[in-house]
Amino acid sequence: MSTHAKIYVAGHRGMVGSAIVRQLRAQGHPADRIITRTHAELDLTDQAAVRAFFATAKPDQVYLAAAKVGGIHANNTYPAEFIYSNLMMEANVIDAAFRNGVKKLLFLGSSCIYPKLAEQPMREDALLTGTLEPTNEPYAIAKIAGIKLCESYNRQYGNSHGVDYRSVMPTNLYGPGDNYHLANSHVIPALIRRFHEAKVNHVPNVAIWGTGTPRREFLYVDDMAAASVHVMTLPMATYRQHTQPMLSHINVGCGEDVTIFQVAQTVARTVGYTGPIHTDASKPDGTPRKLMDSSRLNGLGWKAQVGLESGLKAAYEDFLERYSS
Ligand SMILES: NC(=O)c1ccc[n+]([C@@H]2O[C@H](COP(=O)([O-])OP(=O)(O)OC[C@H]3O[C@@H](n4cnc5c(N)ncnc54)[C@H](OP(=O)(O)O)[C@@H]3O)[C@@H](O)[C@H]2O)c1
Repeated sequence: MSTHAKIYVAGHRGMVGSAIVRQLRAQGHPADRIITRTHAELDLTDQAAVRAFFATAKPDQVYLAAAKVGGIHANNTYPAEFIYSNLMMEANVIDAAFRNGVKKLLFLGSSCIYPKLAEQPMREDALLTGTLEPTNEPYAIAKIAGIKLCESYNRQYGNSHGVDYRSVMPTNLYGPGDNYHLANSHVIPALIRRFHEAKVNHVPNVAIWGTGTPRREFLYVDDMAAASVHVMTLPMATYRQHTQPMLSHINVGCGEDVTIFQVAQTVARTVGYTGPIHTDASKPDGTPRKLMDSSRLNGLGWKAQVGLESGLKAAYEDFLERYSS
């Protein structure tokens, strides 16, 4: 019999879930010990279906990378769907995992859990110290609930049932599997698409939104997957030593931020767009700086490996494969 744990990766067709599957496989985890279900096969907002799945599939571990994810426009337009779907998915998966004897689970949140005016770089203990950014508050509340679900199950069932549920909060991610949708993509995929289209259509110049001066942090998605597996596999004593029962989540970032203009220049170089890049100060900049403090994770022995230049190169290759005709 295989000694490898049976691992359920929820959201395996998403950018992060697919990277976690790649990472597990790269670390030698056999494919037949990784369980996946598409959204069509298993709607995670359906409690009865989730309970039935866990009772049959009986995973040993769970990576919860399924979520309803979107940009400002989607969050603003569909706030009810964002809070409902995410709360239901987390509650269903975490509770069904517990009921079926799953000892280890990793929940993926997001940096939007932190207050809008959190001190930079944002430390884990900034959680619940201030008002959230209103545009994605429903999503952020659901993500905070996910952390608190994990902590509450640990506190109630940690000693009696050996429950050990952990949370990681990634910064902005990019890489293979990203969403390049025009109206609904994050900064890096939007820039890749714009500069690519400008190159192939010989557009003389490209304007980026805002002044280009806001600073943001970006992490390559395979680094995120490596960090997820790292955190999941830390011995319980080590994890407990670096966290607290009611402040247990761990930031995942590369520790460095760059200006939006610098990112645009790097994307343009990667894509091969050689025209001028303008800024459009009539468009909003957003918050001046967003950087995670990842010292907790660094202290646990993990650091990002992939730099922006090489990450962008891989992301662009994926874009060309999926979108270029
Ligand atoms: N991307 C980033 O920059 C970023 C940054 C910080 C944190 N994160 C976090 O990382 C996690 C994964 O994000 P991602 O970028 O990989 O998102 P993604 O590419 O949109 O993937 C999400 C996955 O969840 C699945 N899903 C959604 N609703 C479902 C449902 N009701 N039942 C079953 N499956 C469902 C989706 O399937 P369908 O597409 O078929 O619906 C998709 O495969 C999220 O928790 C997100 O908050 C992402």
